[in-house]
Amino acid sequence: MRTLTDLLQFAPLLIIALFAGSLTNADAAVSAGIASSPATHLNVYKSPTCGCCAHWIDHAEENGYSVDSHHPEDLTSFKLAKGIGLRYQSCHTAISQEGYRFEGHVPAKYVTQFLQSPPQGSIGLAVPGMPVGSPGMEMGDRFMPYQVLLLQEDGSHKVYADVENAKDQYQ
Ligand code: CU
Ligand code: CU
Repeated sequence: MRTLTDLLQFAPLLIIALFAGSLTNADAAVSAGIASSPATHLNVYKSPTCGCCAHWIDHAEENGYSVDSHHPEDLTSFKLAKGIGLRYQSCHTAISQEGYRFEGHVPAKYVTQFLQSPPQGSIGLAVPGMPVGSPGMEMGDRFMPYQVLLLQEDGSHKVYADVENAKDQYQ
């Protein structure tokens, strides 16, 4: 049985659902009054045996995120269904409460920057492959420069950030 209290708990979600139809996710977040403090919970989809995924989760938690892990049977299909094309795929997929996707070893600082003002027409960020030296992929002092890509609703991408050195990841 649903009590009145139960229904009131879900009221903010209903408001978001009503607004999401006509407005962007960001606008819906503003309507619900949560834009100033983006949600910091991530659902992470990965293989149960992935070591670097666990290291990336540690990195996310150290930067203020709470994480729940999930292990779908077919990760590739899961990613494709979430709009993450093969060329953007990495080991794990983090999904925010608003539904934004963060594919692979994206530094938490860019996740936060993105969630604070999601660019219009985008569905999230991706670091394809697994660049050595990215968060969760540390190997001593080794570092391979990489780009953080902005995934667009139409399946294309833009460059969100150039990460030239290890220090850039944590400023
Ligand atoms: Cu990895
Ligand atoms: Cu991973």
